[in-house]
Amino acid sequence: MSRKPFIAGNWKMNKTISEGIALVDELKGLIGDVSNVDVAVCPTFVSVAKVGDAIKGSNIMLGGQDTFWQESGAWTRQIAPSMLKDAGCQWVIVGHSETRGRFGTVDAELESVLSYFGECDTTVNMKAKAAFAAGLTPIIACGELLAEREAGNTDKVIVSQMKADLAGFTKDQALKMVIAYEPVWAIGTGKVCDSDEADRVCGVIRNVVKEMYGDDVADAVRIQYGGSVKPSNAAELLSKPNIDGALVGGAALKASDFAAIIKAA
Ligand code: PGA
Repeated sequence: MSRKPFIAGNWKMNKTISEGIALVDELKGLIGDVSNVDVAVCPTFVSVAKVGDAIKGSNIMLGGQDTFWQESGAWTRQIAPSMLKDAGCQWVIVGHSETRGRFGTVDAELESVLSYFGECDTTVNMKAKAAFAAGLTPIIACGELLAEREAGNTDKVIVSQMKADLAGFTKDQALKMVIAYEPVWAIGTGKVCDSDEADRVCGVIRNVVKEMYGDDVADAVRIQYGGSVKPSNAAELLSKPNIDGALVGGAALKASDFAAIIKAA
């Protein structure tokens, strides 16, 4: 089955409202003719609605960078999936290594605050289900730390994250979900994962999906690679059979770079 490539830009804590609008305005001009690739941008919560207004009627979709599993209430700082939907989002990233508190390198001082992030596979799964319930589609991220890779535990870590993160979806939801394989050591470091290895791990993920939801879902599900994707390596990564797109951080902040990655797909 052929899967439509999906390139999503995770802006992280970058771009003010006006900078975000300028970025998508430039992007619209560069990719206006693209119809065979799905494209989304994920701005900060404060700029998501305004950026959503700026891309109305274009081929760029909108996503949130995270969400919460409760609908409303006394949850200071949190954003409900229905609020993202209301702001114009179709997508939401859940389980990014930065919201899981799994950073590539952690100095001792920072380690002590990691519990503030408090995200684990159980809550990633709850967020994904809440996203579906609100009419959003989750981009569910997983990935191993450098130490886990060096200890030969990559597959074990990924399989265990995926089994917990993807548990209990309906078949319809499983058909729609998007998974992002993001080796933590490759995020924002300039160290891209070797394309054959990235493809192999995406194959491992597809196998987990097959065991959980059957052949048709495994065939249909889109798996993105993320971690230092840039114009110079995108075509190689995206040519691999198990890689159906990219979750792009740094290179999504420059319209020409992001457009080049989209065109490479
Ligand atoms: P990067 O980030 O492209 O800057 O490595 C990717 C991500 O964290 O989604």
